[in-house]
Amino acid sequence: MEQRIKAIVEAGLNAIKNALTLEELLEVRNLYLAKKSELMGLFGQMKDLSVEEKKSVGAWINEARETLTQALEQKKVGLEKEVLQKKLSQEAIDITLPGRGLPIKTAHPFFLIQEEISDIFVSMGYAIAEGPEVESDHYNFELLNIPKDHPARDMQDSLYMDDNTLLRTHTSPVQAHVMEAAKGQPVRVICPGKVYRRDEDDATHSHQFGQIEGLVIGEHVTLGHLKDTLLVFAKKLFGEKRDIRLRPSFFPFTEPSVEIDVSCFSCGGQGCSICKGSGWIEILGGGMVHPRVLTMNGYDEKSMTGFAFGIGIERVAMLRYGIDDIRKFYQNDLRFLKQFQGR
Ligand code: PHE
Repeated sequence: MEQRIKAIVEAGLNAIKNALTLEELLEVRNLYLAKKSELMGLFGQMKDLSVEEKKSVGAWINEARETLTQALEQKKVGLEKEVLQKKLSQEAIDITLPGRGLPIKTAHPFFLIQEEISDIFVSMGYAIAEGPEVESDHYNFELLNIPKDHPARDMQDSLYMDDNTLLRTHTSPVQAHVMEAAKGQPVRVICPGKVYRRDEDDATHSHQFGQIEGLVIGEHVTLGHLKDTLLVFAKKLFGEKRDIRLRPSFFPFTEPSVEIDVSCFSCGGQGCSICKGSGWIEILGGGMVHPRVLTMNGYDEKSMTGFAFGIGIERVAMLRYGIDDIRKFYQNDLRFLKQFQGR
């Protein structure tokens, strides 16, 4: 009996040693240690033995089982390690390979100018505010002193979603949102963003374009403050030698209203093709916040005054970069966009 057990152990250890995969190892376990294996079968043959013999045969079988189990465990750990190593080496990435070389990205001229203008005003202490592009009639018109059926509505052809909802035609409704949130307190903000109008697209018109709104409210804010603010702005954007002039204009939400021109940065004022011979270039509209707009939006018009202005982003970018057609901003022509690389 002892010889038989020894032979089984020897064969078993050999089979374990020769197993190449975890699957093969499982087969070996079944063959040598399962209930129906030869070794376990020996327990059944013990009934005819004496008590003494039973003791030693039982001990041999248990020892054999122990030896095989341990050998199996060891082999299993080894095989698992091998599997892991193989997987790791297959999935390894060679970090010494050269990269794919990303092209140098270009900021869009629209955002270059939006950022430059924003920076100028932030340096003067302005905060940046944003509002929704889908706007209610109330904010886009009513709170800006443009009541229903008022002819001033025709100044801005609008894209309506329903009777009361439209794509905002200017960034001025952000003024109303800001005033509402400020609850009668002073404000100094700019509001950059996209606006939409039912315009025929041509070289200088687009159904979608960008504006930057400015709004300052406080005690003793005057037209003089607006003028000086915009002079500083024009010099920073177009050069120290620039001057500005104000011409009377009309907007329903400002009174008085002005159109602001900057002296031509190309000819210095003598007259050239860029300023169409006049020496001046119109860059924005503005004025003192209309007293009705102040009261409608929660201000005491007796103690608080304010000024507002609106700048067309593409228009400024076109002047700065000498771009002759507003549609180029939206056509994604790489030959156009790449010219702004590194600006
Ligand atoms: N919202 C006006 C426009 O789009 C511009 C403007 C803004 C005028 C603020 C005055 C004050 O035409």
